[in-house]
Amino acid sequence: MADFETLTFESADGIVTVTVNRPQKLNALNEQVQRELWAAAQRLGPDGDLAGAAVVILTGAGGKAFVAGADIKAMIDMTAIQGRDFSALGHRAFDAIEALPMPVIAAVDGFALGGGLELAMSADFIYASQASRFGQPEVNLGVIPGYGGTQRLARLVGPAKARELIYTGEMIDAAEALRIGLVAQVFPTEGFMAAVRERAALIAKRGALAVTSAKRVINAGLDVPIERGCEMERQAFGLLFGTEDRREGMSAFLERRDPQFKGR
Ligand code: HXC
Repeated sequence: MADFETLTFESADGIVTVTVNRPQKLNALNEQVQRELWAAAQRLGPDGDLAGAAVVILTGAGGKAFVAGADIKAMIDMTAIQGRDFSALGHRAFDAIEALPMPVIAAVDGFALGGGLELAMSADFIYASQASRFGQPEVNLGVIPGYGGTQRLARLVGPAKARELIYTGEMIDAAEALRIGLVAQVFPTEGFMAAVRERAALIAKRGALAVTSAKRVINAGLDVPIERGCEMERQAFGLLFGTEDRREGMSAFLERRDPQFKGR
């Protein structure tokens, strides 16, 4: 297993929490963090030592920021080619996170700006504390979002709102982020991580085969015509009838008891 210097891992009850740990720089993403995020996705992927996780929580250390963006100091002297490669490194990591089989929840408590918001958007959804602030401030630096923000933000909140956020570079608070559909839920800042873990535990209790199947179909269907997406759904739905969990779930309902899913 690779050694990680900028990320920490915590595993309990099927929930793995990955924390970006550069609090003195508000968890800004330099090359090393990006490489380690990619390596974290390998640990959580099908061949990794953390593949058994039911749910992943992605968060930032220090209580002030999720991630305040790509590391501006690291970018100051880059050439055009280095800028492109720096962007590609982030894309590689974020694509790997997005492609993980299990749900990934971004737990944002504080600033999620620029590359930080882009990282959060590569998760399945975002939970925010009331103290959170979101934005794509890259135009203030003379650049544009470079880790998928132009694409993922527009898909998530619609092109018009994405354009407004990206062109103005303005920050929005958690309530506004909830209103526009950028975050799935807002929780009080006090006890935020406990609230997120409770939601993660609820998902972990569900049948992993059904949850991962739903994730696969939702993600694969986002960029294809709806008829093809619906066909993928029919195939995935049918496939689940070959699982023990499907029989257990339906039997438990009919027998008026809680299901005991085994992921088989
Ligand atoms: C490098 C950063 C940083 C960043 C904060 N820091 N954000 N360093 N890159 N993105 C560092 C500061 O330099 C400072 O270090 C320390 O973290 C604390 O930050 P302060 O600015 O002192 O804190 P505060 O005054 O509370 O302001 C918080 C803030 C502000 C509003 C979040 O830090 C800020 O505006 N940060 C930049 C946000 C941003 O523009 N993000 C987009 C980056 S571009 P020292 O050593 O001085 O104590 C991007 C492109 C993605 O993300 C695509 C790339 C391919």
